[in-house]
Amino acid sequence: MVSLELARLEGRPNLKESKVLFSKHVKFLKGVVSREDFPPEDRSEVCFAGRSNVGKSSLLNALTNQRSLARTSNTPGRTQQINYFSVDEKIYLVDLPGYGYAKAPTYEVEKWQNLAFNYLSERRNLKRIFLLIDIRHGPIKRDIEAMSALDKMAVSYQIVFTKCDKLKPSIFEKCISIYTEKLNRQIAVFPELIVCSAIKKEGIEIIRSEIAKLC
Ligand code: GTP
Ligand code: MG
Repeated sequence: MVSLELARLEGRPNLKESKVLFSKHVKFLKGVVSREDFPPEDRSEVCFAGRSNVGKSSLLNALTNQRSLARTSNTPGRTQQINYFSVDEKIYLVDLPGYGYAKAPTYEVEKWQNLAFNYLSERRNLKRIFLLIDIRHGPIKRDIEAMSALDKMAVSYQIVFTKCDKLKPSIFEKCISIYTEKLNRQIAVFPELIVCSAIKKEGIEIIRSEIAKLC
């Protein structure tokens, strides 16, 4: 059983460096739709995974201080390719299509979800998977299935609870202790949980600091 705790901002030695890193130029590099399209594995990368509509693209925009670098939408299934963003030519941030319900034809959904699965299992320079979960719903069956698949592949992932602005802090603390009981059965889960809001910019510094550590 993994002992899980909430990640804290205090005591992080690299906050200055991470702030500098994310003040650098960020650009959209490419959208990958097939295995041949991936950029060379010549630098570290981190990716954002999770159910459709959980807030992956919004989090990427918040981290990079941009309004619409990654396209966001109310419609689940907005991101339909593996989108690569480059920060200061040093690290790639990778926005994945979501799993679960998506407003798109089934064959298309299967195609991009298979590509994402292969990516997660094969990419050698992938340093961290941020697995996003809506704090209002907690981990549902589909999330547990995704985590168990990552456990089997021995690929580590860090849980990020999104949209915390939608709940009062007193409520979300209770929710997290309930969710923790479900999550600590997973094998490859990173021991620190992050709570964030892309809208209120909460938890953003912590995620930046985690990313800066890896590059
Ligand atoms: P797909 O690309 O479809 O898989 O979705 P996604 O996970 O990239 O979600 P996206 O960032 O497009 O956000 C989905 C919806 O949630 C949008 O309407 C966002 O404005 C909203 N949203 C994202 N993050 C937050 C947040 O922190 N707080 C609130 N209140 N809404 C958010
Ligand atoms: Mg998206």
